[in-house]
Amino acid sequence: MENEILKVEKLNITIQKQKKVLKIVKDFDLTVKKEEIIGIVGESGSGKSMSMKAIMNILPEGVRRVANKLSLEDIDLINAGEKKYQKIRGKEIAMIFQDPMKSLDPIKRIGLQIEEVILRHSNITKKEAREKAVSLLKKAGITEAEKRIKQYPHEFSGGMRQRVMIAMALSCNPEILIADEPTTALDVTIQAQILKLLLEIQRENNMSIIFITHDMGVISKICQKVMVMYAGFVVEEGDKKEIFNNPKHPYTIALLKAVPSLDLNKKRLVAIEGKTPSLNEDFKLCPFLNRCDKKIEICNEVMPEYKYYGNKQKVKCHICYE
Ligand SMILES: Nc1ncnc2c1ncn2[C@@H]1O[C@H](COP(=O)(O)OP(=O)(O)OP(=O)(O)O)[C@@H](O)[C@H]1O
Ligand SMILES: [Mg+2]
Repeated sequence: MENEILKVEKLNITIQKQKKVLKIVKDFDLTVKKEEIIGIVGESGSGKSMSMKAIMNILPEGVRRVANKLSLEDIDLINAGEKKYQKIRGKEIAMIFQDPMKSLDPIKRIGLQIEEVILRHSNITKKEAREKAVSLLKKAGITEAEKRIKQYPHEFSGGMRQRVMIAMALSCNPEILIADEPTTALDVTIQAQILKLLLEIQRENNMSIIFITHDMGVISKICQKVMVMYAGFVVEEGDKKEIFNNPKHPYTIALLKAVPSLDLNKKRLVAIEGKTPSLNEDFKLCPFLNRCDKKIEICNEVMPEYKYYGNKQKVKCHICYE
């Protein structure tokens, strides 16, 4: 299809625990088009990061992926080895994480770390790479970049470190940026600045973004499409407007109720009642069943299939069939 950059079909992720194979992510589908911003939202442990790590082929030891399709433009990623992936990571798809300290080397100067990424993917001189690192840091909103490149990660504040990560992620002008809760650890003002920066860069570079967050408010500000995950399943996805104006899955509805009211005087947070699902469960029925206040008889009998609305919204829920 036109403009499709990344295509994932039936991605399944498993871990072997003692003698049992546990399913972490089930039948995950994703299509990313050029310049699109997709939000992935869902409770802790629902498989958001694992899905992205599977795409990047950086799953932790013992965690396995299989998929019917995993392709980036015309490159097949299912059978891509580490060598091929090294060419892709950073250059085609870059990823930033919640905790930049985990991705930065504490004993290397910031400038050197950015230069290394640049040099890995291009044939320019060290001097040119240094100049590029400075200009990237400036673009990411770091003042006195010429001086700052000589500093170490611990000399930067949390927000500044995240800017460094953004500069690094953008150094090779990737087609897609995966941002895994990049602002969660930051205070609200810094969070807003980082979001603004990401949007500016996205527009300038015609980049696509997959943005992972727990925050429906952030999704509503920046995304065009939304995917909602629960217990390793995508339970609903669609255009942002559809999801916000006409959410169909009871979990999405509950999530939206949990968004603090836009009126700041009424900061209302509704917690979703019930136990969070355990990885050890092999779901034969809807994973949200025990927390669902809208369940009907059939929910106790069979797992719902996806129901499609138009060609953009899909929901995994029995009550939506009616
Ligand atoms: N290194 C690991 N080895 C085995 N299982 C893991 C590992 N890391 C995470 N898991 C399990 O995989 C599941 C999915 O985890 P994942 O990190 O993708 O969740 P998430 O949706 O990103 O959550 P969060 O919002 O907290 O970041 C979780 O149930 C978690 O317990
Ligand atoms: Mg995560």
